[in-house]
Amino acid sequence: MAEMKILVLNGPNLNLTGMREPHIYGSLTLDMINDNLAQAAETLNVDLEFYQSNHEGDLIDKLHESRNYMDGVILNAGALTHYSYALRDAISASELPCVEVHMSNVFARDEFRHKSVISAVCVGTICGFGDFGYHLALAALVEKIKKSAEEGK
Ligand code: DQA
Repeated sequence: MAEMKILVLNGPNLNLTGMREPHIYGSLTLDMINDNLAQAAETLNVDLEFYQSNHEGDLIDKLHESRNYMDGVILNAGALTHYSYALRDAISASELPCVEVHMSNVFARDEFRHKSVISAVCVGTICGFGDFGYHLALAALVEKIKKSAEEGK
């Protein structure tokens, strides 16, 4: 049995990864990124569940549902990152450790991308490393979950 269960949640437009603006987001599709991540998770004895939606409410519903059976969340919220207080509240309400991921370096892009309304309710943020960011997030989240378990939190 897997040691822990992690939700990999992708928001609006991330279904077009590999096709939209490949100079920014790379040429791998979301399915390829997820397959690579699933392989990495196997070696860590972690179970991953993948979910992508272009709809804010669906992402919120998924976080609510995950509250009861997930150990943590890797979240690329796309543009919702920059303005969705509802998503931020859903992350808090889930009471799950969440790692925020951005494939691009949002700080080197448009000014509206410099602000994240979700960072404060996430355990940390990884940005600018392309699809490898999901792998970095997985490693960081697994360590965080193990440490919290050791500390009895
Ligand atoms: C993104 C950055 C966001 O600003 C943008 O809206 C996205 C993708 C990233 O992965 O770099 O859709 O989250």
